Amino acid sequence: MNPSTNTTPRWLLYGATGYTGVLIAEEAVRRGHEPVLAGRSREKLAPLASRLGLDRVAVGLDDMRGLVSALEGLPLVVHAAGPFVHTSEPMVQACLSAGAHYLDITGEIPVFENTFRHDAEARRRGVVLMSGVGFDVVPTDCLARHVAEKVPGAHELDLAIAAVSQASAGTTKSAREGLPSGGFVRRGGHLRPWPMGKGVRRVRFSDKERTVVPIPWGDLVTAWHSTGIPNITTYLAQPAAVARALRFTFPLLQKLVAVGAVREQLARLVEAHVRGPDEALHQTGRSQVWAEARAPDGGRAEAWLEAPEAYAFTAKATVRAVEEVLAGALRGAFTPAQAFGADFVLSIEGVRRMDLSA
Ligand SMILES: NC(=O)c1ccc[n+]([C@@H]2O[C@H](COP(=O)([O-])OP(=O)(O)OC[C@H]3O[C@@H](n4cnc5c(N)ncnc54)[C@H](OP(=O)(O)O)[C@@H]3O)[C@@H](O)[C@H]2O)c1
Repeated sequence: MNPSTNTTPRWLLYGATGYTGVLIAEEAVRRGHEPVLAGRSREKLAPLASRLGLDRVAVGLDDMRGLVSALEGLPLVVHAAGPFVHTSEPMVQACLSAGAHYLDITGEIPVFENTFRHDAEARRRGVVLMSGVGFDVVPTDCLARHVAEKVPGAHELDLAIAAVSQASAGTTKSAREGLPSGGFVRRGGHLRPWPMGKGVRRVRFSDKERTVVPIPWGDLVTAWHSTGIPNITTYLAQPAAVARALRFTFPLLQKLVAVGAVREQLARLVEAHVRGPDEALHQTGRSQVWAEARAPDGGRAEAWLEAPEAYAFTAKATVRAVEEVLAGALRGAFTPAQAFGADFVLSIEGVRRMDLSA
């Protein structure tokens, strides 16, 4: 139930039968929501809808009329069907047409950029567009905003993630879509190519120090919107040998996935073997995030987050973001931290933040 209105939140969950879609549906029900489950496969939707006692609608993303009609009477869509470079735009268009808010769980840089391109139209249509309401990018986005608020005039922002989890098939496919573009950083307000494997360093997380390597995380777009800091590097913790080897292995990987037959074989292997974390890992896996903002005058702030396992976190953060959007009066394209503030992440069960300012 929504305590402010005493009504049961009803919204559309597209991609409900995917690994993460199921987690979001279960979390929504746990918090008293009644999402309508949607996706392209009637057969896959039926057992899930019946297990959770929810309505369902089968519609493809190539059926604009069907999408708009599925949205009739519903205020919001959570889009959980990725890779979003292929799926986001039709759903954004359906939402703009139907006057429904759009939230997704992407981590893909081109998708964040595309969502912000629709800002003016979203304002005109009176809806919110928000990409990245999952693990990518809620914890990093909120922590980036938090350290930026402590350092007026900050010109550099570093973010690092260490996650104990296992990628799902959908995440693996989305990462593969990003492979050809390679690495990026933000410099002088612009996205700049960055060779993968360059810039390996050590970062002190809240539990221990780890080796990290720059990776093109969604915050290269979102933290720029949330903080205005023009120089941003996003890092991922990796075993030191893997991080250093990336300089040589990454170009090889890029060449391999450029070959159609290899790509197809890889897709089959991912479908057959990549499952995402199991229930035990949901319960025990922890995620660590670190952020540091620096100003030219020497001002500096550092902060850390500890959060639940990334997919468990994604389900919780998504449903909390739905509640905030439905309760608020925002219109336009936003990052989670822009819309809800740096402390939003603290409203998610199991999250802890620590600070150090100089
Ligand atoms: N931000 C984050 O931290 C975060 C966390 C988790 C997941 N994700 C992202 O969320 C996406 C889904 O991940 P997942 O783990 O749930 O993957 P998954 O288990 O492979 O599920 C993907 C879902 O998307 C649907 N789908 C894919 N392409 C579609 C299309 N063209 N039209 C309609 N439906 C389509 C699939 O439907 P079918 O079953 O019919 O193929 C399935 O329901 C990925 O892009 C992943 O990277 C992000």
